[in-house]
Amino acid sequence: MQIGVIVISDSTYKGTRKDESGKEIIDIMKNNFSVENVNYTVVPDEEDAISNEIARLVKIETDIVITTGGTGPSERDRTPEATMRLLDKRLYGMEILMLMAGLKRTDFAALSRAVVGVAKRTLIINLPGNKYAVRENLSALLHIIPHTIEEIKGKKKELPREDIQ
Ligand code: MTE
Repeated sequence: MQIGVIVISDSTYKGTRKDESGKEIIDIMKNNFSVENVNYTVVPDEEDAISNEIARLVKIETDIVITTGGTGPSERDRTPEATMRLLDKRLYGMEILMLMAGLKRTDFAALSRAVVGVAKRTLIINLPGNKYAVRENLSALLHIIPHTIEEIKGKKKELPREDIQ
């Protein structure tokens, strides 16, 4: 699996804050999948910079791009807008899965506007900027990520019957 991890944070970009959430994503992905290649970048909370970096990773046919940060309601939070510019399809159900998992832990999960969708042949997932929120949100999707990527790539495989209720 080729993965892209984009840390979206003005302070991490400036070097005044250490990245923990991007590293957390890489750890989780490596612990759960066979990750061949990680493309890791840090960008400021600028819509164009975010969108350009996602587009670059889509162009090189990265299987999955996971962003962290910039999903909230504050003025500089523009990650969902930058992501939506590029999406061919929105995967609302995956957004809801993350929200449901988050709400079990804290009502503040309601503040994330994280978007999930498909741009060309790449699955894109927004996650909040906090390391614990990354863990909670990403864990809610891990079990369906491989099949989602197969569907996106057009390799339709039968799901084992026990996975379909
Ligand atoms: N989701 C989970 N599961 N756990 C959390 O602690 N924090 C929320 C929310 N989602 C949180 C969460 C908070 S307080 C905010 S402001 C938003 O994510 C947006 O975070 P971001 O702007 O860093 O992306």
